[in-house]
Amino acid sequence: MAALDLFGLEGKAALVIGGGQGMGESTARMLAAAGCDVAVVDVERDRAERVADAVCGIGRKGFAIIANVLDDDQAAYAVEEAERQLGGLDVMVSIVGQALFTPIIEMTPEDWDKDHRRNLRYFFVSARLVARSMIARGKGGAVVCIASTDGIQSAPFHAAYGAAKAGLIQLTATMATEWAVHGIRVNAVAPGSISTPRLPETQAHRDAMKASLVPMERSGTTDDIGKAVLFLASDMASYTTGHTLLVDGGWMAANLFDARKMAIKKSTENRLSN
Ligand SMILES: NC(=O)c1ccc[n+]([C@@H]2O[C@H](COP(=O)([O-])OP(=O)(O)OC[C@H]3O[C@@H](n4cnc5c(N)ncnc54)[C@H](O)[C@@H]3O)[C@@H](O)[C@H]2O)c1
Repeated sequence: MAALDLFGLEGKAALVIGGGQGMGESTARMLAAAGCDVAVVDVERDRAERVADAVCGIGRKGFAIIANVLDDDQAAYAVEEAERQLGGLDVMVSIVGQALFTPIIEMTPEDWDKDHRRNLRYFFVSARLVARSMIARGKGGAVVCIASTDGIQSAPFHAAYGAAKAGLIQLTATMATEWAVHGIRVNAVAPGSISTPRLPETQAHRDAMKASLVPMERSGTTDDIGKAVLFLASDMASYTTGHTLLVDGGWMAANLFDARKMAIKKSTENRLSN
């Protein structure tokens, strides 16, 4: 069997929401390299068109859809337009998300709503539209969203974002459970610290990675995320659904190790003092 056949994505149709740069661009390029035609949705026209051109350059059909997916009508337009141009969808990837940096004490209800809209709500709105049409088409499919380690552990100064990403992880599991009978798999990727066009890596950041508990001693790249998304979107993950895949250079594993170390230290101190 040829390596590309393992993905089972040749000739499949994919929608990438937030595909215009960074993780979305890596994802769109990798899906195209694995044989998908790709609808690139982005609020920024230049970005979407550049990545759509890159998909065409790889030899697949690629086109841009310009929409602000935080608006329900525009999210519906994006999904319908992708389905119309591709004749149905096999894969949906949802990348859009952002965090406010605010202590809880200073956070307003509007701040809270903002992070929930742009990380959680739009995914609920657009993924169920995609699932409805996948169900009607009867061929199943794969849905992948981007969560965060902030949705798994505490997220100081990112409270609304962390809660929204935790909601996304929970929603992923629930969608997977409800939609498994229709052959639709739903999974999430939880990145650790990733260098992106919006949050490029600085020397200070590189030093922090080395000094911190990230065992791989580096930030992740957008391609690290694109590869994980490709895996979950493909037949390589044919029996994986409802899962959140950490792509964090070992960060969460190290945290657990550190917590255990502290517990052991504490119990040793207790024993010695008794
Ligand atoms: N960078 C990290 O360290 C990190 C860590 C954990 C999770 N994440 C998650 O990774 C994802 C990608 O983050 P990023 O900073 O690379 O993304 P980004 O801000 O660069 O956005 C990706 C694309 O989405 C587009 N976009 C933004 N809002 C949109 C909207 N309303 N409608 C349509 N398109 C829109 C942007 O124009 C951009 O091209 C997010 O979900 C984020 O929460 C990032």
